[in-house]
Amino acid sequence: MRIALAAGDGIGPEIMSATLELFAAAGVTKLVEFVPAEMGKAVFDTGNTRGMTDEAVRTVEDLGILFKGPMETPKGGGGKSINVTARKMWSAYANYRHFRTLPGVQTPFSHLDLDFCIVRENIEDTYGGIEHRVSDDVMAAKRIITAPGCDEVLRFTFETAKRMGIDLVHCSHKANIMKMTDGLFLERFKAIAAEYPGIQTGDVIIDALCMNLVMKPQQYKMVVLTNLQGDIVSDLAAGLVGGLGFAPSANIGRNISIFEAVHGTAPDIAGKGIANPTALVLSGLMMLRHIGLTQQAATIENALLAALEDGAHTGDFGDRSKPTLDTASYVKAIASRLGKEPRTVKPAHAGSSSAVTFARPPQPTAPITMHTFTGLRKEVAGLDVYVDRREGAAETAAHLGKLCEGTPFRLTLLSCRGTQVWPRGSIYTECVDYWRARFELREGTTARQQDALALLARVAEHDTVSEYELLRTFDGARGWTLAQGQ
Ligand code: NAI
Repeated sequence: MRIALAAGDGIGPEIMSATLELFAAAGVTKLVEFVPAEMGKAVFDTGNTRGMTDEAVRTVEDLGILFKGPMETPKGGGGKSINVTARKMWSAYANYRHFRTLPGVQTPFSHLDLDFCIVRENIEDTYGGIEHRVSDDVMAAKRIITAPGCDEVLRFTFETAKRMGIDLVHCSHKANIMKMTDGLFLERFKAIAAEYPGIQTGDVIIDALCMNLVMKPQQYKMVVLTNLQGDIVSDLAAGLVGGLGFAPSANIGRNISIFEAVHGTAPDIAGKGIANPTALVLSGLMMLRHIGLTQQAATIENALLAALEDGAHTGDFGDRSKPTLDTASYVKAIASRLGKEPRTVKPAHAGSSSAVTFARPPQPTAPITMHTFTGLRKEVAGLDVYVDRREGAAETAAHLGKLCEGTPFRLTLLSCRGTQVWPRGSIYTECVDYWRARFELREGTTARQQDALALLARVAEHDTVSEYELLRTFDGARGWTLAQGQ
């Protein structure tokens, strides 16, 4: 078995070599060959804005698994985060994290003996980074949620729950506000859940979930979320069980999976040899289980639990009456307990459950295109045009109302920042220079997209158009939301 390895930046090389030393002591390196893949700061510094060499890309694509340390992201301009690039370009669509109370890791929640999982969609949402300046004063981001993207991560969630014997899965969302995007995620959750009648399900609005996680976290066993909400909530969950030093993650894809700690490069302690390697060790254990080395994973996990029980700790946690260990001594303390089992918590065993592993399909020869719904009847129903204007609502409405005379469309709405300001509205609604004009089909008419775009061209002769969206029905159902107050 061969696995691509990138040690990372900052504390990355220190915690990676400690982790590999522990794996070697447990016999893993006899069974797994780690193949170096050049990624991170050193590659950015050569002017490569992707942060990974072509050879590293080939290695990861050939081997299908990457074990990585944290990598520094240039701040502001320059290259984008390698971590996000890797997940997105290799379609590692499910970010799976397991949170459990560990012995010797004191938190205000330790007495609750927590054990739950969070699955976060890892590719879509605002992480598309599709952002534009649309007027002098306004920046806009596009949030993309797709039905096949939802289905992939939701199926992974339910398959993993089934494999782990988890009988309760929650979907968390904000579908009361983002009715179409989070609405789709929730709708697909219900559709996929129907395929797993043995698993109970629930849905919870994201803000309530955050409160519940602090008030009564034991009520959750597995929660699945969209990308940004999942990103935030999974760090909240990490805080319940000891923070970044204990937060591992697996980024699972159809072809390529990436295993890494949640934390970053910790520049403040890099090079001092004092970093806590536990999160990377735990990520490595997820990886060993993923490739079927479940016995070795259980042996290392039990040694780690036994060491924690005995008070082994680095400077960032633990019982201060016991000596603080540096990274190397901490790992030695774990390695010296290989073959032992913890006394105060349930030991892991080779059959201990882990996230589901799908067999790697044959390597594709071209990018895959996924579909959930096909063949829906699409009809043009109107056009939303966003214009950059300084004038007020009444004047803008009068002006745009004239422009659509003689077309199949009439002006039905003006909104600003998503709130209706014309034909009805409140004088207390504060507006900016980014108006949405909604044109809808006149009664009894039909139109083609060319007709809508001809109207757009007419608006463009008079105004600065920032953006536009065609309004369509899909099998007769409205493919857009109403404005606030409409
Ligand atoms: P960070 O996670 O590196 O550090 C936050 C705090 O936690 C620091 O005080 C640090 O010393 C401490 N810490 C983190 N890991 C620790 C460990 N294993 N043992 C002991 N203490 C630990 O977050 P920060 O400072 O925001 O980011 C630093 C760099 O890491 C940035 O360039 C960022 O882009 C990158 N980063 C990379 C990630 C990845 O590769 N997956 C994830 C998060 C950040």
